[in-house]
Amino acid sequence: MTNQNIIAIDGPAGSGKSSVAKELASKMDFNYFDSGSYYRAMTLFYFRIYSSLKSNQEFSEWFSNFSFQDFFSKIKLTTEFDTSEQNKTFLNGEDVSKEIRSIEITEQIKHLAANPEIREFVNAELRDLVRLNKIIMDGRDIGTEVFPDAKYKFFLEASIEVRAERRYAELADFKTKIDLDSLKEDIRRRDESDRNRKIAPLKKHSDAILIDTSNLPKNVVINMILSKVLE
Ligand code: CDP
Repeated sequence: MTNQNIIAIDGPAGSGKSSVAKELASKMDFNYFDSGSYYRAMTLFYFRIYSSLKSNQEFSEWFSNFSFQDFFSKIKLTTEFDTSEQNKTFLNGEDVSKEIRSIEITEQIKHLAANPEIREFVNAELRDLVRLNKIIMDGRDIGTEVFPDAKYKFFLEASIEVRAERRYAELADFKTKIDLDSLKEDIRRRDESDRNRKIAPLKKHSDAILIDTSNLPKNVVINMILSKVLE
């Protein structure tokens, strides 16, 4: 049985997933959800704990008593859907939507994203969201691991140059200072860890429709997806 509540859009950073998914969602009366936001919020939570530990000894003590069950019991992730703006992400009731997009968090996500327990926790949250809502969800493993039963799966790609330029333009809106070459390097590093990790690597599901967005305007990509979904 296929799951009609979810449309999966996977792909690397800057491939156009979120802007396309957001607009599609408002056209189709679906909600949009960015699964990366939950990996980001988990990373923020971990780093807040980490930076509150003052010495190596404090860290060793914390680490030797660490249990995932205890860690997860302290985290409540929620979201407020909004297709016209960025969705809001709440970590234990606090709006962390801006903070989770920082360069520092983006750099550190790979450590948590490679962990099977963390992925299982996030996947359960994502499946809960889809039980209650119709969602166009973007991510890295939405079609392959989280919702292999999704009726519609898409995989967006684009050249690294185009992806870095898109990100550069987005970050300029946030007034974040980073040059294009460092951004390209960050994306290259992140691609590498997302594509090569052992668990849930970034890859196209065999059923997913591949769209190379390098030379396509957003509205063309949206129409390509819409025409498949409405077929
Ligand atoms: O917006 P951008 O594509 O830069 O990143 P994101 O979607 O916010 O995801 C940030 C990071 O979270 C990715 O680089 C992945 O390492 C991780 N992620 C993941 O492992 N699985 C997902 N379904 C979504 C994100």
